[in-house]
Amino acid sequence: MKKIRVSLRVNGRIFTLETDPNRRLIDVLREDLNFTGVKEGCGIGECGACTVLMNGKPVNSCLVLIGQAEGSEVVTIEGLKGKNGELHPLQEAFIEAGAVQCGYCIPGMILSAEALLQNNPHPTEDLIKEAISGNLCRCTGYRQIIDAVKIASKKIARKE
Ligand code: FES
Ligand code: FES
Repeated sequence: MKKIRVSLRVNGRIFTLETDPNRRLIDVLREDLNFTGVKEGCGIGECGACTVLMNGKPVNSCLVLIGQAEGSEVVTIEGLKGKNGELHPLQEAFIEAGAVQCGYCIPGMILSAEALLQNNPHPTEDLIKEAISGNLCRCTGYRQIIDAVKIASKKIARKE
């Protein structure tokens, strides 16, 4: 198959690669660019483990063909850390709330929450539930995750 040339910005760095057009964004992120914080669960758009931000919106990277990501701005969990490697307020809050068990769903969960907080720094509980409704967690029962997003919202407000 004829390869295509794709450029995209991931976590602030521009990457240009020649690749098969039928490859998925998740595979390029994990295999070519080594952003292994992106997780694959179902591979069919059901679980949200592969969630990344694309142009500020959460997407299932298992459903995005690499050509669709041309010119886009992608953020993975690795892109949330601060300049000196410090944790993002959402990461701190997930630890404080005990919202991480096996951890497999957490990168996607945090990125969905990040998209929410960027648009609405003070969301209601219903909006938090809606924002993470595409992210399945088989360990925590969700309560601690919702609490973590509320804690992060307060942390971010204190920094403003
Ligand atoms: S791996 Fe993409 S939605 Fe499940
Ligand atoms: S912490 Fe295990 S799936 Fe969510």
